[in-house]
Amino acid sequence: MSIHISAAKGDIADKILLPGDPLRAKFIAENFLEDAVCFNEVRNMFGYTGTYKGQRVSVMGTGMGMPSISIYARELIVDYGVKKLIRVGTAGSIDPNVHVRELVLAQAAATNSNIIRNDFPEYDFPQIANFQLLDKAYHIAKDLGLTTHVGNVLSSDVFYSNMPERNMKLGELGVKAIEMEAAALYYLGAQHGVDTLAIMTISDSLVNPDEDTTAEERQNTFTDMMKVGLETLISD
Ligand code: HPA
Repeated sequence: MSIHISAAKGDIADKILLPGDPLRAKFIAENFLEDAVCFNEVRNMFGYTGTYKGQRVSVMGTGMGMPSISIYARELIVDYGVKKLIRVGTAGSIDPNVHVRELVLAQAAATNSNIIRNDFPEYDFPQIANFQLLDKAYHIAKDLGLTTHVGNVLSSDVFYSNMPERNMKLGELGVKAIEMEAAALYYLGAQHGVDTLAIMTISDSLVNPDEDTTAEERQNTFTDMMKVGLETLISD
């Protein structure tokens, strides 16, 4: 039905959770949704629709990086009418007070990508989260007892940066973590008038490289994040 998603119109809910990893989409569908049906297998970018606490919700992988999430999120919005999109992913901390396993809600996303600059070369157009989603997610995470930071993140085109000191400089300006998708998702939200939010679990720290997580700890914190994402999607 769209170039990269094989679903029929109506197969996808108007609220969607977007992990980067398509196998995590499968995990969410199997562990959190009832009556989940797979709507996409093109490129193994699995997507499912089911119900969460009685409300129709979808979940789909986006792949890594802004070009990939831009393709899927745009088709979800334009071709399938999705109105609320929440990314659930990982990020690397660049703030000494933001530790592994903690949550970061991206209030805004700085970026080194050309994705916005191509359209507005002479402007610095800030990419911001939808405030209602941000506010709900913050209170839901707090009520679950999760350590939750709210602030700026850097959406980078580069995972293996040759200029890490530049990223660290952004940390000194209050940017909390680096990830690779939020700015593009927020830009699509602005372009199409839909609600977007990115929630990240800190998987590694660039300022405290000794901080580490076990596979079990990672699984538990990811599970907490998915709960925050799903509860935020269904709360009106
Ligand atoms: N950089 C970019 N993206 C990431 C990182 C990182 O250090 N960790 C998890 N996602």
